[in-house]
Amino acid sequence: MCGIIGYIGDRAAAPIIMDGLSSLEYRGYDSAGIVVLDGDGMPQLYKSAGKLSRLKSILASGLPEGNSGVGHTRWATHGGPTDFNAHPHTDCTGDVMVVHNGIFENYMELKRELTANGHVFSSQTDAECIPHLIESYIQEGCSLEDAARAAAQRISGANAVVALSRKEPDKIVSFKLGNAGGIVIGYGEQEMLLASDISALLPHARNVAYLAVGEMATVTRERAEYTRIDGAPVAKTTSYLPYDALTASKGEYKHFMLKEIHEQPDAVLDALRGRVQFDPPGIALPDFVFSDDEVRRFNKAIIIGMGTSMHAGMVGRMWIESLAGIACEVDNSSEFRYRDAVLDDRTLVISISQSGETADTLGAMDEAKRRGARQLTLCNYEGTQSTRVADGALPIRAGLEISVAGTKTFTCSLATLYTLAVYLGVKRGTIERERLADIARELAHLPEMLGQLVSEQSQYERLARKYARRANFLFLGRGKNYPLAMEGALKLKEISYIHAEGYPAGEMKHGPISLIDEEMPVVALVPQDNLYDKMLSNVNEVKARGGAVIAVATEGDEHIRDSADHAIYIPKASANITPILAAIPMQLLAYHIAVRRGCDVDQPRNLAKSVTVE
Ligand code: G6P
Repeated sequence: MCGIIGYIGDRAAAPIIMDGLSSLEYRGYDSAGIVVLDGDGMPQLYKSAGKLSRLKSILASGLPEGNSGVGHTRWATHGGPTDFNAHPHTDCTGDVMVVHNGIFENYMELKRELTANGHVFSSQTDAECIPHLIESYIQEGCSLEDAARAAAQRISGANAVVALSRKEPDKIVSFKLGNAGGIVIGYGEQEMLLASDISALLPHARNVAYLAVGEMATVTRERAEYTRIDGAPVAKTTSYLPYDALTASKGEYKHFMLKEIHEQPDAVLDALRGRVQFDPPGIALPDFVFSDDEVRRFNKAIIIGMGTSMHAGMVGRMWIESLAGIACEVDNSSEFRYRDAVLDDRTLVISISQSGETADTLGAMDEAKRRGARQLTLCNYEGTQSTRVADGALPIRAGLEISVAGTKTFTCSLATLYTLAVYLGVKRGTIERERLADIARELAHLPEMLGQLVSEQSQYERLARKYARRANFLFLGRGKNYPLAMEGALKLKEISYIHAEGYPAGEMKHGPISLIDEEMPVVALVPQDNLYDKMLSNVNEVKARGGAVIAVATEGDEHIRDSADHAIYIPKASANITPILAAIPMQLLAYHIAVRRGCDVDQPRNLAKSVTVE
């Protein structure tokens, strides 16, 4: 949450910062601000409540000139979205400027102390304490760097901070405390950048380094130096980003979400590349770190994640149980971290986090580590915090995802989880060779089946015309498609603001059925699997009470047309692959309904792509 960008180099800083803020706006869009140091080191600071477009219109007559500066796009935690609460924040003198992401837990106590010492505050934010705290150490004779280090040692909570000073205009200082979202440092030609994530760096830098928890960076136009916040030096290696700036643009699509839905056949192909083998059939996971002995020793798996990642985990659980024979639980990271889960070194904790920086997932991973579990993380970005905490990482290889609502990261997480379950099954001897050949053959066709699904849009436009004004939706599924009902409801509510609930269809008679009337559309996942007849009964129960049914059914199932009002067909596939296919109708239905309602599809209100606070 909150997007941070900093630049220092030979070029004009403001255009780079403003572009960077556009790429980061999905992280927060309550308010935005920029400060640039001009040739004399004088700060020019502009900030505004509202979306970035407000700040852009304020700067329409000319951007501030200078070669270093920082920008921020905010998702409010302390203090409402006002001009005063927007970042950057300054100290009393206006010399020190700070942008911040996270929650400064002891800020009240420090604010009281600073106020007693004469510091004057102009916002209700926790962030404003930071420049004043830095100022207090500068008043004692510290350099910006030492003052930031001293301040960092007094701040508790999860925080990512970038600071600059008028007195030392040749550097930008940054530190990261706790799991507060990333700071990535980009190495350009005679220029350096800092950003919350790589999307803002891509047009300028491909070599990057990630700040770890408890680390600080001092960045000049030529280099970055790293220390722990206690001052101990840190040696860091850079990694090369395999994405280019083009992938961060919308291209011909109206929204990033639609672009990312269409990218799924290729993204899933990337997720499977090199992992599926045909001769002999098998699954190879070169990144997998656990030995075969360890895999055989695991007696429990626990999958954790939040939002869409957790829904992928709910499907993963069923694959791991049925294919690898390992007892498997799934939990929201935010619940797992505060319950006394029973685990030891025979437990494999599998975290799923596309960003690798979701605060609750990182907190849950720390807890699992403390309790001695072995950990694997599924993540879209190598080098992020989750990949540092886990014993091993499996990249989901979805590529850059900009839209707040996850789409391709969901299907790529599913594809990766499926290969993981099969891999574990092979190592544990629960999958025979013949079955493995079928699995590999079907996986080879998966991208093509996804391609077929994303190419058909008109039926969703028709459904959106009919149902976009309904106030509630119910999504029903069973077995591996129950998590898809949850995901369908989540997609719809997050981008169209329609109240929607996902339920295991068997639960319908225990409550939700009382809600069904002519006004309640029900999306039913009814593929032809072993639970088909039971789902069909549920569909008929909805119809008998006047509800309208949109069925997601298997191609060729004409019978479903007698029961449901609409049928969206997905290709015939095994029960294991079906949930990956069913993801596309869930996404496209939500997308077209949200477009029809005139919603801000890529940046839904109150949401953020990376939730870096609890
Ligand atoms: C936020 C996003 C969701 C995402 C969830 C978990 O809620 O809006 O799209 O599924 O965070 O994010 P992660 O990066 O941990 O997968």
